[in-house]
Amino acid sequence: GLKKKEVNVLCLGLDNSGKTTIINQLKPSNAQAQDIVPTIGFSIEKFKTSSLSFTVFDMSGQGRYRNLWEHYYKEGQAIIFVIDSGDKLRMVVAKEELDTLLNHPDIKHRRIPLLFFANKMDLRDALSAVKVSQLLCLENIKDKPWHICASDAVKGEGLLEGVDWLQDQIR
Ligand code: GTP
Ligand code: MG
Repeated sequence: GLKKKEVNVLCLGLDNSGKTTIINQLKPSNAQAQDIVPTIGFSIEKFKTSSLSFTVFDMSGQGRYRNLWEHYYKEGQAIIFVIDSGDKLRMVVAKEELDTLLNHPDIKHRRIPLLFFANKMDLRDALSAVKVSQLLCLENIKDKPWHICASDAVKGEGLLEGVDWLQDQIR
C-alpha cells in the first residue's frame, strides 16, 4: 500500500492534564498500555490515522522537566496542548507555559498547527472548552491555525474530532 506521510507531533501541557492518556487512546488497542504513570522526561509514541503516521514526543509536564520541551520544538510539525479543564487553580500556569511556547524563537514565526484538548470534561466542575479558550486567550493566536476540543481521555471521547482536524491541517 501507499506509505503514509510521517509527522512529528509534540504533546505538551501541565503534569496530570492527561497527555499520556490521550496518546495511549490513539494507539491501536493491542499497543495500548494498561496502567499510565506520570511521564519521566519524555516518551516517544506512534499512532496512525487514515493518511498520516504520527510520531509523538509525549513530554512530561512536571515543572522540573518543562525545560526539556524547547529542545524538540524545531522537530515538531504540530503541537497537541492538553489542559485539565477541572484544574482552575493552575489555568494561569497553563497559560504562562503556552505563552512561553508561542514566544519561543523556534515556534514564533512558524505556521504550526495547534490542537488544544480541554480534557477531563467528565469532571463535575470542569470548565467548558469555550471558557478554557477564553482563559488561555486563544483568540489572540492569529498566525497559526488552532482548534480546541473538549475531551474525556479515559473514555476516549472528543479525541478523534481533534485528530481529524490536525490531519486536515497537515495534508
Ligand atoms: P505527566 O506525564 O506527569 O505530564 O501527566 P500527563 O499529562 O501525561 O497525565 P496522565 O495521562 O498521566 O493522566 C493523569 C491522570 O489524569 C491519570 O490518573 C488519568 O487517568 C487522569 N485522566 C486523564 N484524562 C482524564 C479525563 O479525561 N478525565 C478524568 N476524570 N481523568 C483523566
Ligand atoms: Mg504523561
